[in-house]
Amino acid sequence: WQMIAIVSLFGYLLGSIPFGLVLTKMAGLGDLRSIGSGNIGATNVLRTGNKKLAAATLLLDALKATAAAVIADRVFGGDAALVGGFAAFIGHLFPVWLGFKGGKGVATYIGMLLGVEPIMVLVFAIVWLSFAFLSRYSSLSALIATLVIPVALWILGLEEAAIVTAVMTVITYWRHKQNIERLIAGTESKIGKKG
Ligand code: G3P
Repeated sequence: WQMIAIVSLFGYLLGSIPFGLVLTKMAGLGDLRSIGSGNIGATNVLRTGNKKLAAATLLLDALKATAAAVIADRVFGGDAALVGGFAAFIGHLFPVWLGFKGGKGVATYIGMLLGVEPIMVLVFAIVWLSFAFLSRYSSLSALIATLVIPVALWILGLEEAAIVTAVMTVITYWRHKQNIERLIAGTESKIGKKG
């Protein structure tokens, strides 16, 4: 229990750093929350027109979850990586610094996979890129990729990781509620378009 408490707190704090918000503010682009979808993630940073900043956001938001998982694993071993990665995901979604109003968790989901089961990043990337290429919807691509991951982990016999990621997928869907409504209504914005 001590391990869970320490790793959860550490992972949460690491995950709660809103890199998208910090980077866009540093670049003088204003408050990301009043741009495009209002989300603090890489997809919305892309709507500012700055591709490098969007890539940096994706990378840093992902790597904070990877770091949480890897450090937890080095210190405690066992299932600590899963706990650390999950805590970082929760930290990104509900950061205390932003009144618990954080992002949608796609980058931290990928970063957590990198720290826990790196091969799954490849699975995620193939699914995401395929659907992004076909549909140009970032949200739809992420929703499908996060559906595939727990199933793939389960098939590989990695049951604990499958269960934790399944919970993350449910939370991801819940956070994409507005995106899902827009996708159904046909008003979701496509990659490469502002607003
Ligand atoms: O990574 C979040 C993405 O799936 C949707 O972002 O800004 O279009 O709501 P956004």
